[in-house]
Amino acid sequence: MHVTTSADIGIQSLQTEAELFLLRFAQETGMEPAAALARRQEVLAEIAETGAYTHTPEELTHGAKMAWRNANRCIGRLFWNRMHVFDVRKAASEEDVFEALLRHLAFATNGGEIRPAITILPQAGEGADTFRIWNHQLLRYAGYEKATGIVGEPASVGFTRVCERLGWRGEGTPFDLLPLVIQHGRKPPRLFELPRTHALEVPLTHPEHDLFAGFPAKWYAVPVISDMLLEIGGIRYPAAPFNGWYMGTEIGSRNLGDEARYNLLPLVAANLGLDTSSNATLWKDRALVELNAAVLHSYRRAGVTIVDHHTAAQQFSVFERNEEKAGRAVTGRWSWLIPPLSPSATSVFHKSYEDRIVSPQFIHQHPPYAQTN
Ligand code: ARG
Repeated sequence: MHVTTSADIGIQSLQTEAELFLLRFAQETGMEPAAALARRQEVLAEIAETGAYTHTPEELTHGAKMAWRNANRCIGRLFWNRMHVFDVRKAASEEDVFEALLRHLAFATNGGEIRPAITILPQAGEGADTFRIWNHQLLRYAGYEKATGIVGEPASVGFTRVCERLGWRGEGTPFDLLPLVIQHGRKPPRLFELPRTHALEVPLTHPEHDLFAGFPAKWYAVPVISDMLLEIGGIRYPAAPFNGWYMGTEIGSRNLGDEARYNLLPLVAANLGLDTSSNATLWKDRALVELNAAVLHSYRRAGVTIVDHHTAAQQFSVFERNEEKAGRAVTGRWSWLIPPLSPSATSVFHKSYEDRIVSPQFIHQHPPYAQTN
């Protein structure tokens, strides 16, 4: 008699997820039925024997693109099929990973003409030879808690402390780029200083006003999310940093505008000479518009790809039409899709979306370090 164990259940559910993915992959890439059937049998046998399976380079590439297509919070999904995939599943050391991350940054930055890309590191499994990148993004500013308040990025205070405990010391400016922290299996993490050559930044100016007088505002060119897990057909990739280009409001409304982030609205309002004595003067709204205008103007002037929220919303509508034509449902999280500036002036505001999980997908995972702040 065979007793069903939790390992069997794990194997069965992995087989189910693998089959589902392979079916979709075969459909979308126009695989020959015979080849698809053979591949399915091969994967099922590999799972039964080893408890896991290995994606072909084609499955990996298309699966990663599908994960972007299924990212419910992303308004930039029109370009899901135009992402470059770096297959670095053979990385064996922290140095290998660091090198791959530098290659990713150079490729994605491309002198300012940003290219969407993902670097896929070894899948999770039995051995302890998988990697985690401790950073939230490859480029991110440090935040220091001082007696007089926070200097730099408030969202990075906890992680900055972790870096300091690992021996890192920042210069103490409001825009110190954090080092890369790479962990191999259960070994202690290793710290790598980011070469300035790989971190393109954009100084912020406004076309008409001295908006930032008293604060040398800037932001980095490429957002590379590095703490999410990529899941394809039941296989998990805990380190798979990916990037697109920025939508202006991410920087202008949230990173620089949020009270709990760089909180620049009071400074911007003062430099614009706005009447801040009452909420009803709409000084925050006016400051937000000019701050966002400065971001778009500065990236444009620096030759760095960026999209405004109106254009991004129009592109998202094209994505929705494309998906409908392809016979696929578009899922989404409305609260994330609407831009944090003039949302009702975009089409997404006036629609509703089903926030359902579809695989392949990007998933949030627990930070590998203890949060102490
Ligand atoms: N919102 C994040 C930031 O401001 C970046 C998230 C990804 N954004 C993107 N355009 N791909 O840094």
